[in-house]
Amino acid sequence: MNNVYASSHPLVAHKLSILRKVSTDSQKFRELVKEIATLLIYEATADLQTIITTVQTPLAKCEGIVLKENIGLVPILRAGLGMVEGVWELMPSSEVWHIGLYRDEKTLKPVEYYNKLPIEPTVSVCLILDPMLATGGSAVATIDILKRWGVRKIKFVGIIGSPEGITHLHEFHPEVPIYLAAIDLGLNENGYILPGLGDAGDRQFGTG
Ligand code: PRP
Ligand code: URA
Repeated sequence: MNNVYASSHPLVAHKLSILRKVSTDSQKFRELVKEIATLLIYEATADLQTIITTVQTPLAKCEGIVLKENIGLVPILRAGLGMVEGVWELMPSSEVWHIGLYRDEKTLKPVEYYNKLPIEPTVSVCLILDPMLATGGSAVATIDILKRWGVRKIKFVGIIGSPEGITHLHEFHPEVPIYLAAIDLGLNENGYILPGLGDAGDRQFGTG
């Protein structure tokens, strides 16, 4: 699929298998979400722009590189929260902008409940963090919000995606690359990803 990157790294696959297990408890689940997000972000940031600088080592001067763009991490509440910590450790100067959406259980459409973005954009790149790309409604709504804010470089970083969600996202925002640990079979009648991992928010926060 065009503009879709599903990891083939054995570490990601190993951790994802434990994440899926129904017997994995909340503490372990959170740890794995953090670790998988950190591994995925490595690929998702491979094309960030850089500036050449000069570095003084204890012995000599040499050429160095610094990141050029202001980066925004955009977790979709609640489940995206667990992906922030690991990514932020790698890019501590990133800004974190939360977007609150939940899926209406009947219509499966996203309902917005939190958005405190200032009028002018403060970042030039946004990395949307949400473990589940199911129908794709939440991702599309978040990208709509970020584009209205004025950000043009947007990437979606998730853990499991469905073919339906990927198609939906790219129907509306074909230029937004999608980074995932796995692409699963599809959705069940309640809009849950199969085989998936269940409810990512409930499993992280122990509210299932
Ligand atoms: C989950 C998940 C995504 C959304 C994906 O959130 O974290 O945000 O569903 O579904 P979609 O692709 O069909 O929109 P949920 O609505 O369960 O809220 P929560 O994170 O607060 O549990
Ligand atoms: N949200 C989840 O947490 N899991 C799914 O499988 C679909 C949406």
